[in-house]
Amino acid sequence: TKVTFITADDERIEVDAEDGTTLMEAAVNNSVPGIDADCGGACACATCHVIVPDAFKEATGKPSEDEEALLDFLDNHEENSRLSCQIEVTPALEGMEVTVPEM
Ligand code: FES
Repeated sequence: TKVTFITADDERIEVDAEDGTTLMEAAVNNSVPGIDADCGGACACATCHVIVPDAFKEATGKPSEDEEALLDFLDNHEENSRLSCQIEVTPALEGMEVTVPEM
């Protein structure tokens, strides 16, 4: 499934993410700057923060309570903020462009 990350420097990185993995893994495998994933996907570090476009909110699902709590700690938290390690890659995400906010 093809997904594009738009970095804080406005660089566009298109990746071919494997279904069943997470968006964070796809970012790390492609060295997307700004996705550090310090906790390795345990929903504990919030260094995998991305902003999902409205059109893909449904496809990416709702954040869990734990994820919401962590997002609330971020100063640059927006309405569509998500932790990319909590988003499963599925064919429904084809063509999605997510923004990587400045840290
Ligand atoms: Fe740590 Fe996502 S990788 S919260």
